[in-house]
Amino acid sequence: MTKFVCKTKNFPKVSIIGTGNVGKTLAQRIVERNLADVCLLDIVEGLPQGIALDLMEARGLELHTRNVVGTNNYEDTANSDVVVITAGIARKPGMSREDLLKINAKIVTEATQKCVNFSPNALYLIITNPLDVMTYLVWKTTNLATSKVVGMAGVLDSTRLQAFIAMELGVSFNDVQGMVLGGHGDLMLPLPRYCTVSGIPITELMDKETINRLIQRTRDGGAEIVKLLKTGSAFYAPASSAYYMIESVLLNQSRLLPAAVYLQGEYGLTDIFLGVPCRLGYCGVEAVLEINLTDEETQALHDSARSVRDNINLALTELNIFKRG
Ligand code: NAI
Ligand code: 2OP
Repeated sequence: MTKFVCKTKNFPKVSIIGTGNVGKTLAQRIVERNLADVCLLDIVEGLPQGIALDLMEARGLELHTRNVVGTNNYEDTANSDVVVITAGIARKPGMSREDLLKINAKIVTEATQKCVNFSPNALYLIITNPLDVMTYLVWKTTNLATSKVVGMAGVLDSTRLQAFIAMELGVSFNDVQGMVLGGHGDLMLPLPRYCTVSGIPITELMDKETINRLIQRTRDGGAEIVKLLKTGSAFYAPASSAYYMIESVLLNQSRLLPAAVYLQGEYGLTDIFLGVPCRLGYCGVEAVLEINLTDEETQALHDSARSVRDNINLALTELNIFKRG
């Protein structure tokens, strides 16, 4: 065979730390949609290598051109455009997200610090639970700019609410828009006033009792799946939600979506990562949006923030994680 030297187009690179259910499903979505090359990393030897090889063997049939590598070595994550942190343990039945705090805080902060050495300019997308606390810890224990650290939960909680609305009304999922703010926990804040079907507020289409039922189902959305699966937690919708955010970054789409971002006075909250609407593009979080909330909604958002802050303080003190200057 005659070989020619050619310069190929540089594709973006996404490193995914944690090759469990969420990590491997996200990797599949990214390569099969030809978005970016993927580096999968896990603490378990052979696991990321096996998943990567399996995905590469499917490449000729899925007709994409992206590479996947699996590794246990952080050096291989170098020069990533996006680093996804989804390493940790998942919720088991009866376990709250906050129960995961201590174990996952150590895993997440250590993993991120190693990644930052090799990809200091990447956007860091945090998925590990408890989500808002982990996102804060990542920022607090690194020198990353606030615009380069973002937590995934609002897109997932909103897409769940949208699915429940579409199923209830028998309308196309594509026509439903929803918005869930606050922490990724029992005190999350679905906003029916901002939920629409083809522009029509759901308050015009459903009675209060039905809306309240769907709101509660959204709040219990993660636990509902855990209860059904019995081992592990949701991963298809979480992977789709993370994909949606990564696509907005790598294709510089500047989508407006709810995500855990750093607040500096918005909504009367400071020094916290919490789910609010933001604009996400290639530079990361381009803007944090402050939408009008009623007094009742503001109170609910502050209640959610208080619960997140309690867990942040617990992590910072009990795990001896020092605040940065
Ligand atoms: P999983 O148990 O399937 O995968 C976790 C992976 O992390 C495992 O492969 C494990 O070996 C790896 N891991 C553990 N310690 C590690 C370390 N020190 N370094 C590298 N890898 C390590 O769990 P799954 O379902 O993938 O969920 C992952 C995390 O994401 C959990 O904390 C879960 O609660 C959270 N999650 C958050 C969502 C959100 O909306 N923010 C949605 C779904 C999951
Ligand atoms: C969920 O909401 C486990 O937080 C994850 O499904």
